[in-house]
Amino acid sequence: MKLPAGPQTPFLLQTLHLIAQPTRFLDNCAERYGDTFTLRALGLNSPPVVFFSHPQAIQEIFALPAKQLDFSKATHVFQPLMGAKSVILQQGRSHQRQRQLLLPPFHGDRLKTYGQLICQITEKVTAEWQVGASISIQQFMSDITLQIILQVVFGINPGLRYQQLQKLLSSLLEDVTTPLYSSLFFFPPLQQDLGAWSPWGHFLRRRKQIDNLIYEEIAQRRLETDKRTDILTMLISAYDEDGQQMTDVELRDQLVSLLLLGYETTAAALAWAFYLIHSTAPVLEKLRQELEPLDEVNPELVAHLPYLTAVCQETLRIYPIGLICVPRMVQEPLQVIGHNFDTGTLLVPCIYLAHRRKAVYPEPEQFKPERFLKCKFSPYEYLPFGGGSRGCIGMAFSMYEMKLVLATILSRFKLSLASKSHVQPVRRGITIVPSKASYLVKLC
Ligand code: HEM
Repeated sequence: MKLPAGPQTPFLLQTLHLIAQPTRFLDNCAERYGDTFTLRALGLNSPPVVFFSHPQAIQEIFALPAKQLDFSKATHVFQPLMGAKSVILQQGRSHQRQRQLLLPPFHGDRLKTYGQLICQITEKVTAEWQVGASISIQQFMSDITLQIILQVVFGINPGLRYQQLQKLLSSLLEDVTTPLYSSLFFFPPLQQDLGAWSPWGHFLRRRKQIDNLIYEEIAQRRLETDKRTDILTMLISAYDEDGQQMTDVELRDQLVSLLLLGYETTAAALAWAFYLIHSTAPVLEKLRQELEPLDEVNPELVAHLPYLTAVCQETLRIYPIGLICVPRMVQEPLQVIGHNFDTGTLLVPCIYLAHRRKAVYPEPEQFKPERFLKCKFSPYEYLPFGGGSRGCIGMAFSMYEMKLVLATILSRFKLSLASKSHVQPVRRGITIVPSKASYLVKLC
């Protein structure tokens, strides 16, 4: 079967390019081969990987019945971290069931109950900012979003267990973004426990410490009768359509998955937002004008501010944190925009390239929040949270979180970029973050 054209360079070179300079490599491929191209990034005898960025193709892929696709080819690497019951590792009915249990706490009126806490955490973490000091925005955003996940999703009150988890999780997450650790996840033969000092042994021991703390929290929470609004409490008491509740192992795996998928992603999105806002003076000015009339950050008002919303949308357009949707492996021959694909081919809706199409976004490299005020884009043109049956569960939550954190900080501080040097997108684990972004803090 004839596949769409793509680079003919050796597969190892393609893989290295994709890892080391993902955005540049994708830009080059799109320039040379157009909206659809085939990479051999997985190995000589491995399946071809076809990238799509045309909205029609993305729409057709999102509409394919889940049984025609296998998602585990790409997601199995997460198993040692997230556990076999994680939503991201499920297929078919089991996947639907997990989503049905997980979605409600992240939507609608439920979000309102988390607003004040998000603002309080942001205020607390930034309370130590000193006028004139230089700060790393990436580091502070990670601290804020981790604390938000621990308190809002896990519902853990600050105390000993909270501190232990915070410490263990941030060092685990720091480690898993290094090249050595990431390779362990991709090559199962390297997953050998050779004692506490071996990389895998160290990982397993730390995971156990984290799991013990999470299971302690679940056990304590099952005994509590107080009315609480955190997401763990809602998951403990949720029933699926068969009247089943989640087991402790399922709860643990979902919590760790939500943490790993929700914390670095939102931190990276916020770091990009601060960078883009502060490198585009008219945007900063307009945002300030919108925020100025608010005496204090009222979560419900802030969540509906049109320009702030557009700033968050445009940030995720220009630098979608995940460059691609979860790759889907074809299970039976099928067609997408007239191309035939054999069983085994990997289909990849490419978020980054869809967001850079000149036909939809004129001057795509320019940061222009106004485009979201003037136009409404389809879910196949604008898809920072993916789509179809695998779309992001935390979409509404992270947009809400981004707006509240930005509004809280911008209405208390004036920041400016500490250096004028150009910031590049670089890979950090599964996210794309600004290469460096330090800020000078001034008090408003
Ligand atoms: C700016 C922040 C975020 C971005 C850009 C983002 C992006 C994504 C993307 C692109 C996917 C894959 C969708 C697909 O393949 O179609 C995804 C999946 C997922 N995300 Fe997010 N995400 C963010 C925040 C969050 C948060 C805060 C949570 C939860 C606390 C979360 C939980 C998940 C889960 C559970 C999945 C897997 C869904 C499934 O397999 O059914 N994400 N996200």
